[in-house]
This record gives sequence, structure tokens and C-alpha cells, in this order.
Amino acid sequence: MNRGKSAIVVGAQWGDEGKGKIVDVLSERFTVVARYAGGHNAGHTVTIHGKKYILQLIPCGILRPGSRAVIGNGVVLDPFALMKEVNTLRQAGIQVDGNLFVSNRAQVILPYHRMIELASENAPGRVKIGTTSRGIGPAYEDKMGRRGLRVADLLDLELMKTHVENACREKNTIVHALYNSEPLDAEQIYREYAKVAEEVRPFVTDTALLLNTAMRNGESIMFEGAQGTMLDIDHGTYPFVTSSSATSGGACIGTGVPPTAISTVIGVTKAYCTRVGEGPFPSELHGPEGEDLRKRGNEFGAVTGRPRRCGWIDLPLLRYSAMINGIEWLVVTKMDVLDHLAEIPVCVGYKINGKKTDAIPAQISGYDKIECLYEKLPGWKTTTSGIADYDKLPKKAKDYLDFIAHETGSKIGMVSTGPDREQTMYVGDFLAHLPHEAVLNGAVAGKRK
Ligand code: GDP
Ligand code: IMO
Ligand code: MG
Repeated sequence: MNRGKSAIVVGAQWGDEGKGKIVDVLSERFTVVARYAGGHNAGHTVTIHGKKYILQLIPCGILRPGSRAVIGNGVVLDPFALMKEVNTLRQAGIQVDGNLFVSNRAQVILPYHRMIELASENAPGRVKIGTTSRGIGPAYEDKMGRRGLRVADLLDLELMKTHVENACREKNTIVHALYNSEPLDAEQIYREYAKVAEEVRPFVTDTALLLNTAMRNGESIMFEGAQGTMLDIDHGTYPFVTSSSATSGGACIGTGVPPTAISTVIGVTKAYCTRVGEGPFPSELHGPEGEDLRKRGNEFGAVTGRPRRCGWIDLPLLRYSAMINGIEWLVVTKMDVLDHLAEIPVCVGYKINGKKTDAIPAQISGYDKIECLYEKLPGWKTTTSGIADYDKLPKKAKDYLDFIAHETGSKIGMVSTGPDREQTMYVGDFLAHLPHEAVLNGAVAGKRK
């Protein structure tokens, strides 16, 4: 069997590493791009010849003519957010219809999910996570509690009506008792969801079957990670995480493509580090240096506009990330943001209670005890902005990349020097390991409607 190749693109830090941009660049080599986790809490920015797109639910592959985009079963789907995005893309002249496929097994976000999240985030005594307020956590709670509404059920209007009535009765009682919130109107929710269900219907299919069939036919698949390793429900800085399996393992669970079909894992990291929302961040910079990175890197959330917390690159964290995800190739983005620095501090290890360690604490109290050990690497002090050829990078920038590769045990596959698609370079023999472009065109030419 000539099974197609597949690659998982995963965030190696706390999200916003530039996954969207990298998926867009790589999408020329894959016929299908699939999201496997999260929902419209994600914000993936793609800039093509100066035109900027921010995608929240729809995989960035949709922007590449000839590529199909799949929203897998591991995603929690707000149908209104989906249709808003579909319409924005349609207006921008992107061919969405016929190219977008939504899993019939994905979970649906309903208004009470947002209501519960808002109330619980602001409840006295609760640990505030600093969520995106999209209802993500409560929707995953209902999934795991086996009381969620799946996309297939959304389309079955009678079933959906009963589900919404029962759920509203239950949720209204709970939120009134716990948070004194106003009750939601089940009838109104049903009417609105029945309407949007018809708009979503044409996109819905068995995406596990679609993906596995495509691979059997020799097509290549890229899995577009959302969030990042340290936001993963199991492996991240719990409880300051999202509610899904954001790590590479989630790609199989969240799409129905088996582990034996994964060819490689590509981790994306910034040349420094950011996080948005609450929670531990050992290498965070609280003073003017952090402010400077935020300004130069334009570090404001793509979804919520919140300023991102900034710090130096954290190698113990990246080693952990490489281990958990099985990262073979590392992509380093935002190199240009460090252009001005004479010296770049790099966190090379942790000290906890005076002892050197590489262990990532399981408890939040453990993070408070971390003292980062820094090594200062020489900066290149010249602009790399827009460089698209590895040979043209300054020697000290290459040394910086070599250091990261050596310390994390991964190979550098790509480097990004600006937001635009063109401001990217391939490194070493990475390209040779990807599916060939001609395969994409051949496969697509034969398959597209
Ligand atoms: P994602 O969530 O991982 O897709 O990342 P986001 O899109 O949320 O955040 C990354 C931000 O950095 C976006 O505004 C990108 O346009 C921008 N970006 C990506 N790569 C580079 C780069 O190499 N240099 C600069 N200056 N900006 C970049
Ligand atoms: P992309 O795909 C950065 C963060 C939120 C919050 C925590 C939980 O763009 O990298 P949630 O709404 O998911 O329950 O919030 O997770 N968060 C992200 N941070 N990038 C993201 O996605 C994120 N998605 C969620 O800020 O701290
Ligand atoms: Mg983002």
C-alpha cells in the first residue's frame, strides 16, 4: 500500500508560536490540513503577500487552492463562529464550499457553556484561568461527562430540541444555584441552532473516513495543532491549561487517524517565549525587557487582543515538549524580533531548592520555586527581517539556532523572519522529508470536484 505521508504541526510552548503561518507555508506540500483539538479559542494568523487572515476554527490549509480543510472530531465547534468565519473567507474570495469538511463527531458549543465559563471564572474563591470566554472548557466537560451534543445530533432537529430543553433545565438550575445567573431560554436556543444547523449541514461528513481514505490513496495530510504543549490538559501547566489534548498525541484521538499513520512531528517555537492568560511562566520578563519584546514582536492576542506575557526561550521546557510530542523537526519563528539584541539570555536549566534539574513540576507550587539558569548567547545585531535563505542568515543567528537544536535534540527544519508567507526558509534536508509538491498537484488535480 502506498500510504500518503502525514505530519503533525504542534505548538511547543504556550500557543501563538506561529503555527498558522507555518501550516500555511507547508500547505503547498499537503493535500489535506486537519484541525484536531480546541475550538475558536485559537487564533492562527496567516499573511499572504501582505494580506492578513486570522483563522480560529478553519484550518489554514483552506487558504491554499487545492488543499482541503478538515475540522476533526476532537474540536469543539461553535456553529455561529464557524459560519462567521466561512462567510468572511467567502467574502475574501476563498473557495470554502467543497473544500471544508466538518466531523459529524465534533462536539457543539452551546450558549450555556459560555455562561457557565463566565460565571465560574468570576466566582469568588475560584482559580481564575484567564480563559478566552468561548465556552471551551464547559463544552469539553460535557463531552467527557457523556452529555454533549455532537454535530450529527445538531443536524437531527428533533433530537437537538430535546437535548437543548433537558440541558437548559439542568444548566439553569446549576448556574442559578451556584452563581445566581439569569436562566437561558431553551426555545430561543433551539430556534437559533436549528437555523444555523442548516448552514453547517453541507460541510458535515465522517472526517475519519475521509482522512483515512485520502491517506490510503497516497494523499498527504498535515495536522494543524492549536494551543500549545504547555496548555495541554494532561501535560501542560495544569490547571492553567485549556481543556483539550493539544499535544501531538491529540492528533490521532482528535481525527481518527491511527498512530501508525503519522510520519513526523514538527514543533513550532518562537525564538523567545510568550504566554497569554494566567499561570506559571518561569522565564517571564516583568520589566522593560519584556515590554520591549512585546512591542517588537507585536505580542497581542489574535483572538482577545490581550497583551501576551513575554520572556526568554526556555530550553528545559522545549526539551520536555520535544519528549512529550516526539518532535523530530523544530521550526523557529520570530527570529527577527531579536535582531537588535547584543546578547540573548537563554534559559538552559532550572534550579529548584538550590538543586539543578530538568524536571517539569507537576504542581503549580513547584513552578514558583524554579530559578532559571541563563546562558547569554551573542546577538547578531543586524536585521534578519524577511531573509528567506538560510545561507544569508548572520553567523551568530545560525549559532543561536544550532544551540537550540543541540540542547533540545531536535533538527531545525524551518526558520521564520517575518509574518509573511515569503519570510520563511527551509533548513538542511527538511524539505526532502516532506511530500513532494508535484504529488499534491497530481493528487488534487485528480480529486477536486
Ligand atoms: P499561532 O496561534 O501559533 O498560529 O500564532 P498567532 O498567529 O496567534 O501568533 C503569531 C503572530 O506572530 C502572528 O501575528 C504572526 O503574524 C506573527 N509571526 C509569525 N511568524 C513571525 C515571524 O517570523 N516574525 C514576526 N515578526 N512575526 C511573525
Ligand atoms: P493558538 O492556537 C494562546 C489559553 C487562554 C487561557 C487558557 C485556557 O492561537 O495558539 P480556554 O479558552 O482555552 O479555556 O483558555 O488557554 N489559550 C491560548 N493561548 N494561544 C491559543 O491558541 C490559546 N488557546 C487557549 O489564554 O490561558
Ligand atoms: Mg494564536
